[in-house]
Amino acid sequence: MSEPVQTPQTKFAPRIFSGIQPSGGLTLGNYLGALKRFVQKQDEGIETIYCLVDMHAITVWQDPEKLRQQTREGAAAFIAAGIDPARSILFNQSQVSAHAELAWIFNCVARLGWMNRMTQFKDKAGKNAEAASLGLYAYPALMAADIMAYHATMVPVGEDQKQHLELTRDIAIKFNNDFGVDFFPVVEPLIEGAATRVMSLRDGTKKMSKSDPSDQSRINLTDTADMIAAKIRKAKTDPEPLPETVEGLKDRPDARNLVNIYAGLSDLTVDQVVAEFAGAQFGTFKPALADLAVAKLTPITTEMNRLMQDPAEIDRILGAGAERADTIAHPILEQVYDITGMIRSRRRG
Ligand code: TYM
Repeated sequence: MSEPVQTPQTKFAPRIFSGIQPSGGLTLGNYLGALKRFVQKQDEGIETIYCLVDMHAITVWQDPEKLRQQTREGAAAFIAAGIDPARSILFNQSQVSAHAELAWIFNCVARLGWMNRMTQFKDKAGKNAEAASLGLYAYPALMAADIMAYHATMVPVGEDQKQHLELTRDIAIKFNNDFGVDFFPVVEPLIEGAATRVMSLRDGTKKMSKSDPSDQSRINLTDTADMIAAKIRKAKTDPEPLPETVEGLKDRPDARNLVNIYAGLSDLTVDQVVAEFAGAQFGTFKPALADLAVAKLTPITTEMNRLMQDPAEIDRILGAGAERADTIAHPILEQVYDITGMIRSRRRG
């Protein structure tokens, strides 16, 4: 187990890893910013590993039974959106112990100063940071471990995860430098498309989020067609018609958000959407957006509901995915232990 591990950076084959927290139902933001793009990457034929990060979820309180349910629902959403568990590896994080084990090593690599700069910790901990869990503080080191346990080279995410991926790069670089190895790849964030930051339907300056107290602020992947249409009809806008050019959306966050959502759902660019609806009133644009959203989302919702009828089958898929994930992560973790000087003489199995 003490093969030299110094090989050039080019040794890393393209591999995608990404994760979603099962800390509530998934939103249109998760779908456009992440899930839809996960499916595209799978269909491009790249090796793809996708994870329901249940251990990240418990950094804030989760009711155990709800967490189990939400994890299954998340898995159903992945499959309903087009993730094929035969082509992608789909599993829940806690079933592969390498994530937690590598996270500990990374806790010892990451610096307090780095963690103190994480804006998501500040947002989530709120005013009373003293009462936040230690796990919430260490959250980004676990995220780095998720990615690095597979030597993943690319991570599709929404805009809000950019800082965490920069930290992942810093941890990988510091580990390589500290131990004089070229062991971890320096990951590339894939933040692409028109909908990398889907905003609240009630306030175009706030991110659409599963934790927003107002259900009107978001579209959930479990919403019915009527609910989707009603939420879009009531979405906040301004009194102006849609502009002739994209520049005209500047300083119009609510209008910009709806145009971005249209572009994300239709696979058009923002320019194309603006060209199509130039000068249109929201009375015209909103019904078109509602029809599009219903057409794209309700087949997913229907399929999710069907899959949720058989929770044992979902658990079986997650278990099989975890076994495949473990065959990649386990040897990488063993090499990490070797590099860091841990004795690994226990017989296994
Ligand atoms: P989470 O669960 O908050 O969100 C999952 C994915 O959805 C994206 N997203 C959005 N994209 C656009 N607009 C929005 N309003 C929106 N809301 C959420 C997120 O950017 C993310 O891509 N820390 C991660 C989970 C994670 C992870 C990882 C991701 C854990 N380990 C390793 C990548 C790689 C998170 O909380 O995502």
